[in-house]
Amino acid sequence: MKFILGFCFCLIVLLAGGVALLYSGAYDVAATHPHTPLARWILDSGKRRSIEARVDGIQIPTDFAQMEPRQAFAQFRDTCTSCHGAPGVERSEAGLGLQPPAPKLEDAATGWDARELFWIIKNGIRMTGMPAFGPTHTDDEIWALVALVQRLPSMSADDYRRLDPASASGRPQTP
Ligand code: HEC
Repeated sequence: MKFILGFCFCLIVLLAGGVALLYSGAYDVAATHPHTPLARWILDSGKRRSIEARVDGIQIPTDFAQMEPRQAFAQFRDTCTSCHGAPGVERSEAGLGLQPPAPKLEDAATGWDARELFWIIKNGIRMTGMPAFGPTHTDDEIWALVALVQRLPSMSADDYRRLDPASASGRPQTP
């Protein structure tokens, strides 16, 4: 009985402390300050488990292996590079100010398989700045983006630039 009372007391003290911290304004929400290592670990672990638990029903299309990165190039350039950059392309000013930062996908893509990438792009990641593209894009468009994102780690800046149809015709290139 004593143990249960002690446990309840500690719980109430912790809750009251949490509420006091929130209402006092002591918690700093500035995007110029990164999360503490503990908060980052909690968010990253939660994100990975959450995504892994949700990909089971996702079917990879039969033509996925044949999808060309060029197919989604314009979409990727116009929708993703402002936050993530690309090989040889820096993030925009808005992208550079994000917290948590949007990782360079040429580094981060290897940490996810195709179905996980599809889930992330379709559903987004709440409270991080990563938007959900499912409401505005078809599954086929998202799979084409996955095919491009998976190739980024092996692409040089020149390889990436060559995906732009404008580069073949000698027209000026947009980032
Ligand atoms: C407005 C900014 C923004 C845009 C636009 C954006 N993202 Fe993101 N994205 C983020 C942020 C921020 C994260 C990091 C989330 C985190 O740390 O949990 C992220 C995470 C990701 C991840 C997971 C990487 C990892 O290891 O955490 C993938 C994959 C991804 N984005 C793909 C895309 C693709 C593809 C597009 C374009 C269709 C896109 N994103 C557009 C901000 C953006």
